[in-house]
Amino acid sequence: MDPRTVSGRLGERRGTAAVNAGSPNSRLAIEAAGLRFQNPVLLAAGTAAYGRELRDVVELDRLGGLVTKAVSPRPRVGAPAPRVAEFSGGMINAVGLANPGMAVVRDSELPWLASHLERARVLVNVVGDVADDFATVVAHLDDAEGLHGFELNVSCPNVKAGGMEFGADPDTLRDVVSRARKATRRPVFVKLSPTLVDIARTASVAVDAGADGITVVNTIPGLMVDLETRRPALGFGSGGVSGVSLLPVGVLATWRVARAVRVPVIGVGGITSAEDALQYLVAGASLVALGTASMRDPRVAERVVHGLERWCEQHAVHSIREVIGTLEWTP
Ligand SMILES: Cc1cc2nc3c(=O)[nH]c(=O)nc-3n(C[C@H](O)[C@H](O)[C@H](O)COP(=O)(O)O)c2cc1C
Repeated sequence: MDPRTVSGRLGERRGTAAVNAGSPNSRLAIEAAGLRFQNPVLLAAGTAAYGRELRDVVELDRLGGLVTKAVSPRPRVGAPAPRVAEFSGGMINAVGLANPGMAVVRDSELPWLASHLERARVLVNVVGDVADDFATVVAHLDDAEGLHGFELNVSCPNVKAGGMEFGADPDTLRDVVSRARKATRRPVFVKLSPTLVDIARTASVAVDAGADGITVVNTIPGLMVDLETRRPALGFGSGGVSGVSLLPVGVLATWRVARAVRVPVIGVGGITSAEDALQYLVAGASLVALGTASMRDPRVAERVVHGLERWCEQHAVHSIREVIGTLEWTP
């Protein structure tokens, strides 16, 4: 059997099934894209670095997993400071995909993850300047320890080249995904922007090209103004909006994508509580990820796990799988 395809008794969506992991929160266990997650709560790309920075503040191994900061073939210095600014609805960032490059990630970041995480799953977020870069990174990291799959970032709004255009053009997207897919045996998720004209159609293109899962959403382009200087508040100029204001945007994108494809969806955007996470699950996500909220309070993801357990108990839900895709809505 193709290790990426799971046939679960309950799994009507390709690649998603309930798992009896035997762990304390086994009612939260889920299998997606052939990977076993002890619970559906992940840390979102770019907000947990490569895990090591959080070792003293978060029990990473209690989470479903983490998505690393973007990795490119060569090191990237990223955007000039300031890189983040806050507003009442969340924050805006232009980090510019700063990262040490795939060789350093393979030689020093992934070994740390391999030796410190037993149960949490790791997806490596991948980015590139040109279409070839995605397959280059995936091939370079494929046989490394410390990771379980990849997430292709074809939706970053705050870089000069190699950002959203990879996800916006169907031919380029097909090319990026199919080349990355061929470069690894591990599952490949594709992360999409909420600004796409037809996100469901784009997700279908990615799945037809070999994606094992879809992540929605990345940040939305935005601009904040420094009134004293009359210049943009961020060094790069514009940036990506994240945080609470993204919640309904991400839930709608999740619902649209989950109806269109039969692979697992990772729902991300604006989650701060178990109830927010449940909105994504009901809309069709198999997994959820927290970014901005966990940058503000690194322990919030653990609280979301506990909140999901409590909610399941209170609602006599024996497996979190029972709530996935149960939204009652026919528009
Ligand atoms: C500071 C920062 C850095 C980010 N870096 C990445 C990245 O490297 N790759 C990526 O795919 N998304 C990146 N994102 C987007 C997040 O993974 C997530 O999709 C987005 O922030 C929405 O979730 P949130 O509202 O929970 O933050 C970044 C977000 C922030 C705030």
